[in-house]
Amino acid sequence: MTAAGETRPAGAAWGLGARLLAGLVIVLATAAVTAWLVASAVGPGVFHDHMLRAGLEDHDAAVVHAEQAFQDASTMSLALAMGAAALAAAAVSLVLTRRIGRSLAAVSTAAARVGAGAYESRVPDPGLGAEFDDLARSFNAMADRLHEADRLRARLLADVAHEVRTPVATITGYLEAVEDGIQPLDETTIAVLREQATRLTRLARDLAAVTHAEAGDLTLDLAIVPAPDLLRAATAAAGERAAAAGVSLVLDVAEGVPPVFVDRTRIAQVLDNLVANAVRHTPPGGTIVLSAEPAADGQVAFVVTDTGEGIAAEHLPHLFERFYRADTARDRTRGGSGIGLAISKALTLAHGGRISVTSDGVGHGATFTITLPAA
Ligand SMILES: Nc1ncnc2c1ncn2[C@@H]1O[C@H](COP(=O)(O)OP(=O)(O)O)[C@@H](O)[C@H]1O
Ligand SMILES: [Mg+2]
Repeated sequence: MTAAGETRPAGAAWGLGARLLAGLVIVLATAAVTAWLVASAVGPGVFHDHMLRAGLEDHDAAVVHAEQAFQDASTMSLALAMGAAALAAAAVSLVLTRRIGRSLAAVSTAAARVGAGAYESRVPDPGLGAEFDDLARSFNAMADRLHEADRLRARLLADVAHEVRTPVATITGYLEAVEDGIQPLDETTIAVLREQATRLTRLARDLAAVTHAEAGDLTLDLAIVPAPDLLRAATAAAGERAAAAGVSLVLDVAEGVPPVFVDRTRIAQVLDNLVANAVRHTPPGGTIVLSAEPAADGQVAFVVTDTGEGIAAEHLPHLFERFYRADTARDRTRGGSGIGLAISKALTLAHGGRISVTSDGVGHGATFTITLPAA
């Protein structure tokens, strides 16, 4: 397909069949010229020489006839061979063009459909050898990725719309009630409005953060930071909330833990998020332990363990996905937007680290671990 006004590169008008045939014609012509040169320049001399050696005289009628016969036979066999080869060349190029053309058409049809948004289109197995199999495989892999990206995009939009709807509906409802005189504009009303506005602000901030972090365009301000500093900062940040929730925070730093090479603010964000989650999911009387220990591959592991609600096994693989909440209804009323762990994961990966979670199930607490490169 060529858009109007676009100029095709020179030679683009040549189809696959024409190119293949042209190639075969060149091969045939080379063979014909060579055969003709040999038959006309070398052949007669050799033949004549053999005649004389057989005892015949130079101008015998037999010699003249035999030589004429040799020449006619050579010409005829050359002509027939060339004719047959030309027919074979035409047939071969026709068959190959058809088969290759069919496979290429399948690829270009699928590409056009994927381009038009039908991401589930796939190229069937061409059965034309390794190169075409590779082409089909890479094309299908590309279509898979696009399909996945499109699904994520659609889900993200739906999630964002859903997240925005609830606070906006609450704000609108309260404002209407105030306008109609049903609800006084008192402290309680203002507190509700403020809380919903805060929720929207937090959503906007979290979305911006996760988008940045996942796009990989974060600039990390890396420095050598002692592990206890990070843990102490996280404990201090969550201290009040933990006290209010009746949960004790315990710091436990092993001996000889090396410092890490990280962006202090970003890692503080990750640890704050893990501790805030733990506080939120641990009932009064529970304990949260923050610890650091040397890990494999020259990394340091930071562990946040709680004695709280725990997480059912089926949720574990999804916790780090955007908007994923293990207990949707309850978590939402507690204000989480489900983005915190997605941000934590993106930030940890940006440092070349890893994040993981384990839990022995509901009621048995949860343990979140991030590993970061030692300095
Ligand atoms: N320490 C924890 N104990 C139990 N569940 C947890 C814990 N931390 C996280 N979760 C679960 O993981 C989900 C995702 O966490 P997160 O991404 O921080 O979102 P949010 O905190 O906004 O709900 C939470 O909704 C919760 O269900
Ligand atoms: Mg959270």
